[in-house]
Amino acid sequence: MLERRKIIIDTDPGQDDAAAIMLAFGSPAELELLGITAVAGNVSLALTSRNARIICELCDRRDTKVFAGADKPLVRKLVTAEHVHGKTGLDGPVLDEPTMPLQDQYAVDFIVETLRSEPAGAVTLCALGPLTNVALAFQKAPDIVERVRELVMMGGGFFEGGNITPAAEFNIYVDPEAADVVFRSGVPIVMMPLDVTHRLLTRKERVKRIAEVGTPPAKAMVEMLEFFERFDVEKYGSDGGPLHDPTVIAYLLKPELFEGRNCNVEIEVKSELTAGMTVVDWWHVTDRKRNAKVIRFVDADGFFELLTERFAKI
Ligand code: BDR
Ligand code: CA
Repeated sequence: MLERRKIIIDTDPGQDDAAAIMLAFGSPAELELLGITAVAGNVSLALTSRNARIICELCDRRDTKVFAGADKPLVRKLVTAEHVHGKTGLDGPVLDEPTMPLQDQYAVDFIVETLRSEPAGAVTLCALGPLTNVALAFQKAPDIVERVRELVMMGGGFFEGGNITPAAEFNIYVDPEAADVVFRSGVPIVMMPLDVTHRLLTRKERVKRIAEVGTPPAKAMVEMLEFFERFDVEKYGSDGGPLHDPTVIAYLLKPELFEGRNCNVEIEVKSELTAGMTVVDWWHVTDRKRNAKVIRFVDADGFFELLTERFAKI
């Protein structure tokens, strides 16, 4: 049995972000969710901070603290992904507007304060969107970097290429400068790139098993997944779309489902052609510092089993 971990989820929901948050809600024995911090990404901050609260209410977890953070990347103009996630970011099911309030505190300050007040090495950061909030927190309070237990993040891609440009994955592409700050910070990183998430397709029989859970959150999730995958099915010609963000939470629950290695990862910030590319030294051909555990392989059936089992516990 794993010890219970304190986590902060930094997110830009997003249907797959919603799946990740729901996986955390279904796993209270292993995870203590200290707060959800919203960042601009898939859609505007106004929508991501709204969507995070919708998910909490859908799962009857109004007690969750939700904070709004950065409304734009460190230096670039915000790029969003309505073409994938729909106008609201959570298109698919009919969802009520949230009634629970946003916390007054700025998300970046919440991250700083929490890392300073919790024991060193106690808090894991789970990043499911552009790394803007995390980078702002590290820039504002460099002392917190060494207090982070681990940053587990979804982003990047190497063998698989990119999904928003041929070279870049969306989360890193939106704010490469933030990713660069984080990857240079010295924080222990576990990276879930497209190389692993593209192995996690929402195949019909997998979605059917989630539907069989039958609860309102599971039903809403199925409708979200059906909306979310239509774009990827067209793009990749696959049976279902890749499910990205829940890998981060699944890794905390069952690390044995995943396989990767420690590598150097550098972020391209200069080139226009390859902006946001994550250059992974998988074969250790340089002596650059190994700053991230890069995950490449996953037990896909085990992952979907875990997801379904935990959705049933919400
Ligand atoms: C990532 O980008 C977003 O669209 C998803 O929510 C995920 O975090 C995949 O590239
Ligand atoms: Ca996301």
